[in-house]
Amino acid sequence: MATSSPPLLQIFRRSAEPEKLSAEQEEIIRLKKEKNAVLLCHNYQIDPIQQVADYVGDSLGLARQAAKTDADIIVFCGVHFMAETAKILNPSKTVLLPDLDAGCSLSDSCPADQLAKYREENPDLYVVAYVNCSAAVKGLSDVICTSGNAVSIVNQVPADREILFVPDQNLGQWVMGQTGRKMRLWPGSCYAHVLFTRDSIERCRLEYPNAPVVAHPECIQTVRDLADEVCSTEKMVSYCQDHSSDTFIILTESGMMHRLTRELPDKQFVAGPTGNCACNDCRYMKMNTLPKLLACLRDENPEISMNEDLIERSRLPIERMLEWSV
Ligand code: 13P
Ligand code: SF4
Repeated sequence: MATSSPPLLQIFRRSAEPEKLSAEQEEIIRLKKEKNAVLLCHNYQIDPIQQVADYVGDSLGLARQAAKTDADIIVFCGVHFMAETAKILNPSKTVLLPDLDAGCSLSDSCPADQLAKYREENPDLYVVAYVNCSAAVKGLSDVICTSGNAVSIVNQVPADREILFVPDQNLGQWVMGQTGRKMRLWPGSCYAHVLFTRDSIERCRLEYPNAPVVAHPECIQTVRDLADEVCSTEKMVSYCQDHSSDTFIILTESGMMHRLTRELPDKQFVAGPTGNCACNDCRYMKMNTLPKLLACLRDENPEISMNEDLIERSRLPIERMLEWSV
């Protein structure tokens, strides 16, 4: 029986061509100005969206930007929980998301009713929730964290409290290793990051033996164990900048390569392959497109709407995170 050959590796480096904006992109920039709108964009968005954003970053950076913006409208190019976080921090502002179906498998893996039941049965637990969760789950949590501050947040939880970490078991397991703090882990995971395997990364290392491997903590442990650095998407930029190597193997969603090549034009990045694909796209992040972004800014729709009670309940643990991570 014929076996399929492993996928070719995909290398990203800055193109020699100068970036030229399309008519659609020019119109987005014009509308942003006209409407006093700010475009906040996650590192996983497609390159044409990153090119017109006012800020491109990780979940922590985006939450901080959302907390301090004085724009009238926030257009969020990321997934639903990120736009929801921006709305919680800015209840009086219009928060737009080009596609309301842009969800997250991690967020889906922790339904609020199941967490509420678990809390009721275990009332003494201190709940630390990774920001990749719904507002209802945030409202049931004591403090929120992102991959960029999870270690520091867990280190600040009172030592006499047992922690339940939701919803990502992989990030939670990594944080336990970093802090030495035992935690109960909710059994959720990111469908995209768990596609990296020990075998797929070993193959990549054979071809680029000197390239440091940089992995997101949502990867499984056997993959994290192969990495030279495990960090949030924002930290990936500074790690690669400060490192003397000119080539890196990056184990996260493929949109990250655009941010890296733009900021570090003299370096190249090998997208971590999965078992059957040369790179790894998050299907939710990729739901936002330039036409949808343009239409959403023009029509001020789709908009994130939430009831006041939910905003109130979910704001406190987010504000606690921002206070604890200054
Ligand atoms: P970062 O906060 O590291 O950007 O991660 C967000 C995310 O959704 C990873 O899959
Ligand atoms: Fe959620 Fe994973 Fe997509 Fe991040 S990459 S938004 S964790 S599904």
